[in-house]
Amino acid sequence: MVATQIRTEKVQQSRVQSVDWNNLPFGKIFSDHMFVSDYRNGEWTDDRIVPFGHFTMHPASMVLHYGQTIFEGMKASKLADGTPVLLSPLDHAKRLNASARRLMMAEFPEERFVEAVSQLVALDQDWIPPAEGSALYLRPFMFATDEFIGVRPSDSYRFCIFTAPVGPYYAKPVRLVVEQEYIRAVPGGTGEAKAGGNYAASLLPAYLAQQKGFDQVVWMGGPKQTQIQEVGTMNIFFVIDGEVVTPATDGAILKGITRKNFIAILRDKGYQVTERVVEIDEIVAAHDAGKLEEMFGAGTAAVVSHVAELQYKDKLMVLPDVAERKIGPMLKKHIDGLRTGAVEDKFNWLVRV
Ligand SMILES: Cc1ncc(COP(=O)(O)O)c(C=O)c1O
Repeated sequence: MVATQIRTEKVQQSRVQSVDWNNLPFGKIFSDHMFVSDYRNGEWTDDRIVPFGHFTMHPASMVLHYGQTIFEGMKASKLADGTPVLLSPLDHAKRLNASARRLMMAEFPEERFVEAVSQLVALDQDWIPPAEGSALYLRPFMFATDEFIGVRPSDSYRFCIFTAPVGPYYAKPVRLVVEQEYIRAVPGGTGEAKAGGNYAASLLPAYLAQQKGFDQVVWMGGPKQTQIQEVGTMNIFFVIDGEVVTPATDGAILKGITRKNFIAILRDKGYQVTERVVEIDEIVAAHDAGKLEEMFGAGTAAVVSHVAELQYKDKLMVLPDVAERKIGPMLKKHIDGLRTGAVEDKFNWLVRV
């Protein structure tokens, strides 16, 4: 790895002693330090780790008007011997840059990304929660900082990484509704980028679904809006008559790193995994034939989110009890085990910091 000069300014007094590890609300508690780098005159400059704190912004900062902002979500955990580890950090660096290219933002060098995350986590390793299934959530993000009104790509950007300890995610099985009115993404749009605007656009449909008693929506695509894309902010998997099926990425679906890792784990264990177009009608038919064995979301935050019920138009489909499922629970256990060293890191996904 290329050694990068990162100036480090430590806090005078850590706040870590004040954390209640038994009560960690997601995304509200932030560790002592953050990494910051600024893109000016065509290069990233002044890489630094500094005390976590506010930014001041010019009212004309371009991100506030034209939305050039992208992010990542990843986790650090500790092996049984206390060594902090990251899971697939290079994949996150690459995806951030894929998002940057789509939004005409500056790419951040990938090895420098991994080095920045590693140094930040090493410094704040006491913030990695002790309980199994909990983690230090890492939020790398980038935004446009030109002070200018007018639609064009910004010439300057800020890249920042902060971290937040999060408790175990005891996700209860979710009730989903197939979204019939709103569209998350189409091929050629920005659905494959982890761009802030995608999430802003998803809030109203999610709110309306929640008003009707559902937890999240299933996003649909294809020429007639009959093809399943994703669920909320996760990729989706089905087990139909023993075969694992997930929608093929087509430019409108976020290329989840959990999705990619799940496919590798499953194939290594000898399961058949098919990435293809998944039509809602075939899911209905599989359900009616008693062959829809599992359905779950896959993402960094929850790892696996089991689906209990799926509503499509007037039809409510009820999935088998989680206790009867094999594949979703196995994948969750596998990823949680990798993060503590209990499961062998066969694919070299872990990076020790
Ligand atoms: C829209 C969307 N799909 C899928 C995912 C899952 O991706 P990953 O497994 O990389 O967390 C996420 C979360 O990052 C997401 O926001």
